[in-house]
Amino acid sequence: MKDLSNLYAKIVLMRILGIETSCDETAASVVSDGVKILSNTVASSQELHTKTGGIIPETAAREQVLSMIPVISQSLQEADLTPDDIDAVAVTNGPGLFGSLVIGVETAKTLSYSWKKPLVPINHLVGHIYANWLENTEPPIFPNLNLIVSGGHSELVLMESHGNFTWLGGTRDDAAGEAFDKTARVLGLNYPGGPSIQKASFGVKKLNTLFPRPLANSSDFDFSFSGLKTAVATLAAGKTFSKTQIANYAAEIQEAIVDSLLNKTLKAAQKYQTKQLLLSGGVAANTRLVEKAREKFSGKVYAPLPKLCVDNGAMIASAAYFNYKPVSWEKISADSGLFFD
Ligand code: KG4
Ligand code: ZN
Repeated sequence: MKDLSNLYAKIVLMRILGIETSCDETAASVVSDGVKILSNTVASSQELHTKTGGIIPETAAREQVLSMIPVISQSLQEADLTPDDIDAVAVTNGPGLFGSLVIGVETAKTLSYSWKKPLVPINHLVGHIYANWLENTEPPIFPNLNLIVSGGHSELVLMESHGNFTWLGGTRDDAAGEAFDKTARVLGLNYPGGPSIQKASFGVKKLNTLFPRPLANSSDFDFSFSGLKTAVATLAAGKTFSKTQIANYAAEIQEAIVDSLLNKTLKAAQKYQTKQLLLSGGVAANTRLVEKAREKFSGKVYAPLPKLCVDNGAMIASAAYFNYKPVSWEKISADSGLFFD
C-alpha cells in the first residue's frame, strides 16, 4: 500500500493562538505552522501615551484589561476559527511591564484551562526574533546573528538552531528605541520617537556626525545611548529650533543610533562568521537602519514588515511553534525581569 504519511504530515496544521501584552499593546494572533498568519489583531493605547509623552505603566495596564478579551475574540473571528480549532495557547511571560504581562499571562492560563489546550510561555525577545519566520518564503538559516532593538532592549544574539541562543552583548544604559523616544521628546516630536524622528529626517542629505558613537572601539559587543540623550538635551537647552534645524538634528540622531548599532553588529558577524543578519523589534522598522545594514553587511539581511517589528501576537505564536515546550498552567507566572532563556 502507498505510504501516505508525508501527505498527512502536510495536511495536519498546527494553529497556535499567540498573546502579547508586555508593554502598551494588547495583541492576539493565530498562526499556522509557525509561518502563516491567519489573523493579527493589535489594540494600542499609543494615543494616550502620545498625550503624556511616554508610557505610564498603569495607564497601559488599565487599557489592556479592557481590550484583552475583545482582541482575542476578534483574532479568532478574523481567522474564522473557534477555540476548538486552536491547538495551543502561547503567551509572552517576560520581560516587560509587570502589570501588563500579568493580564496576558493570566488570560492565557484561563483559556488553556477552560479550553483544555497546551500552554506555551514565550520570552518576548525570542518572540521578536521569530517575526523573521512569518510569511517568509525564504526563512532564515543557521547560524544567524540577531540584532533585537526595541523600546526596552538592544541585544546582539547568536542563534545556532531553534531555541539555541547565545547572548553576545547589549546596551549598558538606554535601549535604542528609548534613545529615539527620549531625544524626540527633547526636539518636541511626538511619542513614539522612532517613527517621528524617521519622518522628520526624511529628505536630509548632508550629515555632519554631530553626535557621539560611544564604545565604537571597545572589544565587546555592547552599546551605550545615554550620552546621545545628554548631548541632545545640552544642545537644546533653552533654545527653540526651526523646522529645518529639527529635521537636521533628527537625521543626526538617527544616523548616530544606526552607526552605533551596526558597528558592533558587523564586528560580531565577522567574529562568528554569520552569513545572515536578522533585525527585529520596533527599531527594525527604521528604514535607515535596514538600508545601511544592507549596504554594509555582505550577507543576507532580514527585517520583518514594520507591523511585525513592533509588538504583536504572531511572533509569539511562531516562536511557540518552533520551540514547542508546553508547561502546566500552575507553573507559569509573569516575570518582568525574565531576560533571555
Ligand atoms: O518592539 P516594540 O514595539 O516594543 C518594545 O518591546 O519595546 O518597540 C517600540 C520601540 C519604540 O521605542 C519606538 O520608538 C521604536 O520601537 N520604533 C522605531 C520605529 N518604529 C518604532 N524606532 C525607529 N524607527 C522606527 N521607524
Ligand atoms: Zn517588543
